[in-house]
Amino acid sequence: MTEITEFIVRKDDLAKTRMQTRPAPALKDGEVLAKVDRFALTANNITYGVVGEKLGYWNFFPVTEETDGIIPVWGFADIIASNHPDVPLGERLYGYFPMASHVVMAPSNLREARLSDGAPHRAGLPPVYNSYARVNAEPHFDADMEDERIVLFPLYATSFCICDFFKDNSWFGAEQAIIPSASSKTAIGVAYAINRDAGAPRLVGLTSARNKSAVEKLRLYDSVLAYDEIENIDANKPAVIIDMSGDGTVLGKLHKALGANMKFTSNVGVTHYDANDMGPDFIRERSQMFFAPGHIQKRAEEWGPGAFEIQAFDFWKDAAVKSRDWLTIRRSAGRDAVENAWREVLAGKTPADAAWVVGF
Ligand SMILES: NC(=O)c1ccc[n+]([C@@H]2O[C@H](COP(=O)([O-])OP(=O)(O)OC[C@H]3O[C@@H](n4cnc5c(N)ncnc54)[C@H](OP(=O)(O)O)[C@@H]3O)[C@@H](O)[C@H]2O)c1
Repeated sequence: MTEITEFIVRKDDLAKTRMQTRPAPALKDGEVLAKVDRFALTANNITYGVVGEKLGYWNFFPVTEETDGIIPVWGFADIIASNHPDVPLGERLYGYFPMASHVVMAPSNLREARLSDGAPHRAGLPPVYNSYARVNAEPHFDADMEDERIVLFPLYATSFCICDFFKDNSWFGAEQAIIPSASSKTAIGVAYAINRDAGAPRLVGLTSARNKSAVEKLRLYDSVLAYDEIENIDANKPAVIIDMSGDGTVLGKLHKALGANMKFTSNVGVTHYDANDMGPDFIRERSQMFFAPGHIQKRAEEWGPGAFEIQAFDFWKDAAVKSRDWLTIRRSAGRDAVENAWREVLAGKTPADAAWVVGF
């Protein structure tokens, strides 16, 4: 009998974790059992836990204990048992999976190269997360890029959305775009996207002192400053802030220095999840949370189904190939490997030029 191993975290303390093993349940009509082959772990997954309660991330893969949850991850999985007439054994899926060895899904909305998980508990969740690629039927599928796809596609697709959003708003008249947590992959993706846009403003990366030289080496930012060099920012130039850090101190200092020249702040991430209190200098009225799945849904309605995906996929592929110059993927498998990668990412110990791909 197949056993399912799940990595469980305490919702209010992501450092408290345990492994849970249980027998796979009998499949109902229309259900399949997917074996999660491997998945990526970056700060993005920590954020799913940090904002899990607020944005519903705990609802994808619920567990019985109210206090606990399973973190969603981007990965590949293979169908190893099927009670669905149109989803065969051996089908390989790319998409949103639990940090677990297996997951039961209820495929719905089947198309040649996509399907959704139609499980009732996922009905109200953003469609972007409920949709899976049936990779064997994808004309552009490239098995050599699987790891880059799970590490970088969700992040660079977000970067693409952010640039699209700012372009749509004529960059709010800014002459500089300042990006805190510039070493994060989502920020680097923004830098790739901005470098393709002749009308984009000058790009200033803000990062921790330990990551400064790695960010400079990328040659994607016009200038790179450490967090203790914020006073070197030119406050006389109108600016937008694309924030990955969620760091209240950093944002407060930037907003105070820029004043009326702070045209717009997009709150994208919270890599500095333990420094998230916004102080009195934070300008709320010109700051807005950015939610990539919402932007993708908006574009799907405006551009028609699939159009956004084609553009985002092209961008991701190009940027992912370029990222091979600096990104090291750390592959590892087994329960200890999963636990270890989680601890490293949670503590911010993974070097900026590395990313984890793990599996059970
Ligand atoms: N809104 C959306 O729709 C959306 C979509 C995708 C991603 N995001 C968000 O974008 C952010 C970046 O995600 P990512 O996966 O691209 O990150 P990543 O590549 O794993 O970022 C690593 C960087 O984050 C900072 N960091 C990470 N953990 C830290 C810790 N414990 N303490 C201090 N600094 C830490 C460090 O950057 P520095 O030294 O440069 O600060 C580190 O180099 C996440 O918060 C993610 O959720 C949002």
